[in-house]
Amino acid sequence: MSIVFHEPMKTLTLHTVHTTYQMQIDLHGRLQHLYYGRRVEGACMAGLYPAIDHGLSPDYYPHRQTRGYSPDVRPQEYTGCNTGDFRLSSVVVRAQDGACGADFIYESHSISDGKYAVEGMPSAFDRDGEAQTLSVVLRDPVTKLRLELLYGVYEKQDIITRAARLTNDSDSSLILDKVMTLNLDMPCGPWELIHFHGRHEMECQTDRVALTNGIRTVSSRRGASSHHHNPFVILCAPTATEETGDCFGIMPVYSGSHRTDIEVDYNGMTRVSSGIHDEMFSWLLEPGDTFHTPEALLTFTHEGLGCLSRRYHRFIRSSIIRSRFAYAERPVLINNWEATYFDFTPDKIVAIAKEAASMGIDMLVLDDGWFGSRDDDNRGLGDWFVNETKLEGGLSRLIERINALGLRFGLWFEPEMVNEDSDLYRAHPDWALTLPGRQPAMGRNQLVLDLTRDDVIDYLTERLCSILSEHHIEYVKWDMNRNISDAYSRLLSAERQGEIFHRYILGVYKLLDRVTSAFPDVLFEGCASGGGRFDAGMLAYFPQIWTSDDTDAVERLTIQHGTSFGYPISSMGAHVSACPNHQTSRTVPIWTRAIVAMSGTFGYELDPSRLSEADKADVREQVACFKRHRNLIHNGDYYRLCDPQKSDFSAWQFVSESMDEALLCYVQPRTRANAQPVLMRLRGLDQDARYRLGALYTAGTKDRFWNRYELNEECCVFTGAQLMYAGLALPRVYGDCPGLMVHLVRE
Ligand code: DGJ
Repeated sequence: MSIVFHEPMKTLTLHTVHTTYQMQIDLHGRLQHLYYGRRVEGACMAGLYPAIDHGLSPDYYPHRQTRGYSPDVRPQEYTGCNTGDFRLSSVVVRAQDGACGADFIYESHSISDGKYAVEGMPSAFDRDGEAQTLSVVLRDPVTKLRLELLYGVYEKQDIITRAARLTNDSDSSLILDKVMTLNLDMPCGPWELIHFHGRHEMECQTDRVALTNGIRTVSSRRGASSHHHNPFVILCAPTATEETGDCFGIMPVYSGSHRTDIEVDYNGMTRVSSGIHDEMFSWLLEPGDTFHTPEALLTFTHEGLGCLSRRYHRFIRSSIIRSRFAYAERPVLINNWEATYFDFTPDKIVAIAKEAASMGIDMLVLDDGWFGSRDDDNRGLGDWFVNETKLEGGLSRLIERINALGLRFGLWFEPEMVNEDSDLYRAHPDWALTLPGRQPAMGRNQLVLDLTRDDVIDYLTERLCSILSEHHIEYVKWDMNRNISDAYSRLLSAERQGEIFHRYILGVYKLLDRVTSAFPDVLFEGCASGGGRFDAGMLAYFPQIWTSDDTDAVERLTIQHGTSFGYPISSMGAHVSACPNHQTSRTVPIWTRAIVAMSGTFGYELDPSRLSEADKADVREQVACFKRHRNLIHNGDYYRLCDPQKSDFSAWQFVSESMDEALLCYVQPRTRANAQPVLMRLRGLDQDARYRLGALYTAGTKDRFWNRYELNEECCVFTGAQLMYAGLALPRVYGDCPGLMVHLVRE
């Protein structure tokens, strides 16, 4: 049993293989959080929090004379508001008389097999029948707001999910001004926060900061999880490394405006509060209505950041990604965007496909510009009808020509947007989100469609499903290229305008649900100007997401490194593009570009007819190489071997589950003269096994040093212990941005 209720102590304990999470219903029925950390058997952790009287921390009413039992210092499982806990609130609720307050008292709990679902939103599912659900029902006696706290326990995977439901059991309406997914009161720190910030073309830059007194916030108010602050955060001990140390992961399964606050209070206690962003948020809860929060995925490990990442990688693939492509081999694709932008004809696309076919590529993806009047990015969005003039002969004819070359075909959409210069906008200007009486802020000269409306969702469902059912399309790139401003919906009443941001993302999920479940054999790739919506909510529908519009291999080192903390390698869209690179003008050897892109879904984004014959031969070899190793890359365990933000090089590694093979990847953006060879300590191997150096792929000149391995049989075999504890001396590499990839196989 992974969930245990201990009647005498009134504790509710959740166990996973390596962790324990404990709550206690106190004497007055409040749910206290006692512990989350390494597995502890048969203990009640109530003694960790003795009653102590702290000045200016008010006591619960029954303790007004004895004192020392204050909501402000007790570790709370989830909080109300305005009733004596001055730290971050989980819920802010207003009653009809304007009174703002809530204090939740335990009513009941239930334990069941399987995993709860979250209405209207993606949430983890139970692929292997391992999950159990705990539901705890509490109530604020005055507002009659019923709170149901939900816990999904994945014992083997060491993941605990959380979500909350709030139901108005009174006979008058309530207004929710804030509803968080979770509150997590942590054991005493100090803790450090690792978060992933960035911008367009520079997503997921890793930052690690010490948490000191006060509140630190990671958030987005953009209506999307955003390039700027990924919703995933880690709290870890200051001493935590890739291989050791306490780490907590908090991963929202949500794609809209989010907020995670971490408060270190005057006692040094740390509170994490995570959920929907409460700015411009309010929710009218009529009698009988229920509000559902998004879910979050929690894990704890004392074995460092690498272990934490590998848990999330496995969990997302097993229990978040619904698509049948979660574990399927992904096609190596070529996308025409950086090859042609909007300037293409069917012949040009077929010419790209022809070259691609000769190099072993599996699929051609036609990007933006095939519909409506879309010849540049000022017009056409919303008109999801094939531009028969541009695609003379039609889309089906083009697909036939591509298929005849042995390539599959994929197509780009940006369903959530509309240009003013489009037939859709001319017919339905009220379908765009704009504020009455104001000129809207324009992003890429486009507006956001009002996906809080069912008629808009129905139109988009019909258009996408028609295109997909009328043509032989095996892949869809679902793009989204601006954030929400001017949020005002013509159909919602004045008192519900605060619901737009959340209702918008519910609308996106509804549309995604309809389209992806109608076409289960289509591989969907998410995109939001690159990684502007790279989150666990989107991964429920998209087994892969375009990681960044920055295709420069050097820039991708830090972007993919940061993304790897939470998200699996098989989910990271990554392509080899032309040099000089279109975003940075940097030139990087084609093998280095490939080594970086292979640590993702792998594909190309260039015009192959412009490649030299030597490069074409390299591409042929790269595609074959990826196909040889993709099982190891996508299904193996991933290890970060260094921090590319802090060293001259970047290195990472894949190890198969059986530890029979490994792939070491190394890129050195900065070449140094007269350098000592890098001694790379590998990870995750079987220390008693003997590994033979197998295939070697290099960009940059090899020196005699490496020949030592190539020429001398004896030097090619190492024990796992030797590789992990002493290391492997890498060859000196020369030239601009060299890279290498080494395959090791158990003898
Ligand atoms: C932004 C995407 O990230 C690009 O890859 C490309 O699809 C363009 N949009 C097309 O407009």
